[in-house]
Amino acid sequence: EVHNPSGAARVVVTKPLPGDRWLQILTAAGCRVEVSQCPDISQDVATVKKLIGSRCDGVIGQLTEDWGAELFEALKAAGGRAYSNYAVGYNNVKVPEASKRGIPVGNTPGVLTETTAELAAALTLAAARRVPEADVFMRAGKYKGWLPDLFVGALLQNKTVGIVGAGRIGAAYARMMVEGHKMNLVYYDPYPNKGLEEYIRKYGELLRHSGEAPVAVRRVETVEEVLKEADVVSLHCNLDDTTRHLINAERLRMMKPNAVLVNAARGPCIDEAALVAHMKKHPDFRAGLDVFEHEPAMAPGLADLPNAVIVPHIASASLWTRSGMATLAAANVAGVIQGFGAWAKPND
Ligand code: DGY
Repeated sequence: EVHNPSGAARVVVTKPLPGDRWLQILTAAGCRVEVSQCPDISQDVATVKKLIGSRCDGVIGQLTEDWGAELFEALKAAGGRAYSNYAVGYNNVKVPEASKRGIPVGNTPGVLTETTAELAAALTLAAARRVPEADVFMRAGKYKGWLPDLFVGALLQNKTVGIVGAGRIGAAYARMMVEGHKMNLVYYDPYPNKGLEEYIRKYGELLRHSGEAPVAVRRVETVEEVLKEADVVSLHCNLDDTTRHLINAERLRMMKPNAVLVNAARGPCIDEAALVAHMKKHPDFRAGLDVFEHEPAMAPGLADLPNAVIVPHIASASLWTRSGMATLAAANVAGVIQGFGAWAKPND
């Protein structure tokens, strides 16, 4: 699909995007916009190269595409000046390969913070309270009446939530769990999040004044401390060489046997085969997963585990957020083409 055919700069969008603001931004910046209608979800390098063609000023690409040396070389050769990922995560983008060729990279932070945190919270509650298991039970017509021990799960209130990565999304999730469920927070992040700590301290004071048990927050020096201490552990880190298989068999063994592990970050942060083995052994251990190590595939046995809640990478899937991501990605590419620079860049 081609928009504004008379536009001077050619921008390729590798998948249709929601909303229309993003298109307005690009066409107002004088771009001819070509949206690929390619039905394949993971477009391979050769397919994306074809979309880039012999002349291309900028691309809005997807997290399912492998933006490394080959694609940035093709973009550069086509006169490319800008690339934006339609995602906040950029593990599919080798940023140094783009920088080497003078192509700035943009991403889409901010607009998906609360949406992603909400899904992580939903997975936490669903896993702790066994919602999908109970739903399947109902639909199978197995409910014969109330029983004291039917689908007994874990109460979160006054327990400890642990997060790995206290950036925007981690902090939003932590606030939801601390405020919503009066959980204590223990977190690991190389950098302290002073704002989050202050927020929780003040909330703790408020609870104390109203005669309730206060909540506490503590930053620890190692991931292991979070794993040993927390009743719920949620991952909110980037995927890179330091976080690949951050959760492995050894670290799973450090966790409480009835803990809840949540991942709405990136699949390879967990050794998924090790997780399946661990969950088979510990039926009270629960996991809420939005992302998978070899997405879209799942580790053998995962789908059969009643103690796992699994959803297909939908953490940012609200219409407002997905339109906002498109707007931001368009502003990134249009900004570079117009000479102002990308609106949002990795590590901003
Ligand atoms: C991201 O933005 O990185 C999510 O995985 C998809 O919204």
